[in-house]
Amino acid sequence: MNPPSHDQLIAAAGLPRLEARMLLEALSGRPREWLIAHGPEPVDAGLAARFLALARRRLAGEPMAYLTGRREFRGLMFRVDEAVLVPRPDTEILVDLALALAPPEARVLDLGTGSGAIAISLACARADLRLCATDRSAAALAVARRNAQSLLGQGGAGRIEFRQGDWWEALPASARFGLVAANPPYLAEDDPHLASDLRFEPREALVAHEAGLADLQRIARAAPRYLEPGGWLLLEHGMDQGAPVRALLTEAGLSSVRTERDAEDRERVTLGRLNGGTDGRPDDPHRVTAILSGA
Ligand SMILES: C[S@@+](CC[C@H](N)C(=O)[O-])C[C@H]1O[C@@H](n2cnc3c(N)ncnc32)[C@H](O)[C@@H]1O
Repeated sequence: MNPPSHDQLIAAAGLPRLEARMLLEALSGRPREWLIAHGPEPVDAGLAARFLALARRRLAGEPMAYLTGRREFRGLMFRVDEAVLVPRPDTEILVDLALALAPPEARVLDLGTGSGAIAISLACARADLRLCATDRSAAALAVARRNAQSLLGQGGAGRIEFRQGDWWEALPASARFGLVAANPPYLAEDDPHLASDLRFEPREALVAHEAGLADLQRIARAAPRYLEPGGWLLLEHGMDQGAPVRALLTEAGLSSVRTERDAEDRERVTLGRLNGGTDGRPDDPHRVTAILSGA
């Protein structure tokens, strides 16, 4: 039997053409234009077998990002594997807020960094920030370190200090930050998405006790000890968790507490600051919204 052509292989995958092409691009290392131009030419038998195996995994529901090994976030291409959550566009709001609020040359902490999406995006956008990124998972930190090297270069990667540990325990007691950002696990244990579209992602990146609030609570409660006067805490959370997370930040003693909404008008990031700052940055929460909307 003749080996299939690129075009025949893509058609045989049983996937949307775009997805099939993305898989073949990732496996062959050839850009899309090359695959289109060489569509009628035969494919190496080994490559065809590997492609069809990946296509079967995709048909079984595995995220494209794990099959291709990459996902774009804020215009940067992150390497991902099963050790990390696939970075979501939702988290871009958290990064935009952090960029608007972090004072010049601030020390910034990304708690639960996963692929490194938040810390590395901040480092790329603001050369003045001094960054620290933590995770409990050694495998996730290995992915984040690799991403820092490939996206920031050998020298740039040194701008992020990576530390392993359970939330604040990853840090020395003397550590202080001008801004702390976190996208912690916030799904309840019985969230139905865990059995469907999220079933391939690490459960420890997604699920928290107490209806999804346990990690948000641990982070909020101890935040004042690690914030500089005037420092900000920014927490991503589920769209129905705005009210309880505002209560957590208020109970922790933070001020200017408010929740920012995503493009679909859902509450997604709650922020608050430790009183006492005189850095001239906006502490009027309405001003924060104005910065984000470009007003
Ligand atoms: C929702 S993922 C976010 C990953 C990444 N920051 C992002 O936005 O794409 C949560 C991350 O928190 C980490 N994590 C979960 N529990 C933790 C804990 N107790 N201490 C530190 N990190 C934790 C997970 O390993 C995971 O990487």
